[in-house]
Amino acid sequence: MAEGIFVAFEGGEGSGKSTQARRVADAHDALLTRQPGGTEIGASIRELLLSTDTEGLSVRAEALLMAADRAQHVDELIRPTLRSGRHVVCDRYLASSLAYQGAGRDLGEDAVGALSAFAVDGLMPDLILLLDVPVDVGLSRIDSAPDRLESLGAGFHERVRRSFLRQASADPDRWVVIDATQTLDEVTAAVDASLSERLGWAT
Ligand code: TMP
Repeated sequence: MAEGIFVAFEGGEGSGKSTQARRVADAHDALLTRQPGGTEIGASIRELLLSTDTEGLSVRAEALLMAADRAQHVDELIRPTLRSGRHVVCDRYLASSLAYQGAGRDLGEDAVGALSAFAVDGLMPDLILLLDVPVDVGLSRIDSAPDRLESLGAGFHERVRRSFLRQASADPDRWVVIDATQTLDEVTAAVDASLSERLGWAT
């Protein structure tokens, strides 16, 4: 049986990627999952990582917990699902660690990339859709109490955005950048056009 296709959505805060990930997974009967937090173990790691009650977590420990969540997620859920022939749509993956911990936290994209490479054991998305919005637009869309990472300053989120754009331009065969300042209908149309062009997925 053919393996399923692995699609990841990436983007900064308030990019609308979770809405698109849900819609695409529904339309193509794919498993919808997310990082951090896509497994039961990952849900505990997510709580620790994002809760504003977490104080004093070192940035290296933060990077290791993101990688631990990812390793569990790949081994327990993503790889077995792809092997069963089902597609997987993941809301964030390895590129988020390069952007947030590598660039945002300034740990270095190479160091964090090596950590994540160990975590995923070679499994990379077939297609990564980057929903790109200027930082001020994205942050202004957050309508609940900001979590531990959302509440970091605009400078942090600018480094995150630049990292995503840099990663996308370095690997254009795997990435598509979508202007997420457009209306919901326009973003939806751009996402569907990319899935059709890159993967042959009809809408
Ligand atoms: P989200 O589910 O709303 O996208 O929140 C996840 C948060 O975790 C978001 O602020 C990005 C952050 N994050 C990292 O810092 N590194 C990572 O590797 C991942 C997957 C997420």
